[in-house]
Amino acid sequence: NLNKRFYHERVLDHYNNPRNVGSFDKKALDVGTATVGAPACGDVMKIQIKVKDNIVVDVCFKTFGCGSAIASSSLATEWVKGKTLDQCLEIRNTDIAKHLSLPPVKMHCSMLAEQAIKRAIYDYKVKLEKQQIQPTEEK
Ligand code: FES
Ligand code: FES
Repeated sequence: NLNKRFYHERVLDHYNNPRNVGSFDKKALDVGTATVGAPACGDVMKIQIKVKDNIVVDVCFKTFGCGSAIASSSLATEWVKGKTLDQCLEIRNTDIAKHLSLPPVKMHCSMLAEQAIKRAIYDYKVKLEKQQIQPTEEK
């Protein structure tokens, strides 16, 4: 278990009971995927969103990393669920870090989560555009 003197109880909660762990089919047209890594420590975070009518209807993550990275991604999945893509783009790593009381050396863990959300949305939007340019079925 993680060191209680170092980690805030909210980090421990997400670490011990991570929300929305899993993965979706990367190729599905309604799924946006992002895998981001932190050069500083080598930790890797994957976040996937499932979108319908511009709203994140489902989300999942897999993080290989420290407790703060796991908690940041778990919290981020809670925050994006049910929101519009524009609302999700407003999520700041500083809000995640504040909510989890992350110390300065762990700020980059929360940055991974913000980056992953943004890139997952971008991935989804690129897919959507491609579909509109080249419709998959012609009649
Ligand atoms: Fe050790 Fe991130 S630096 S897990
Ligand atoms: Fe590098 Fe947390 S993601 S220490």
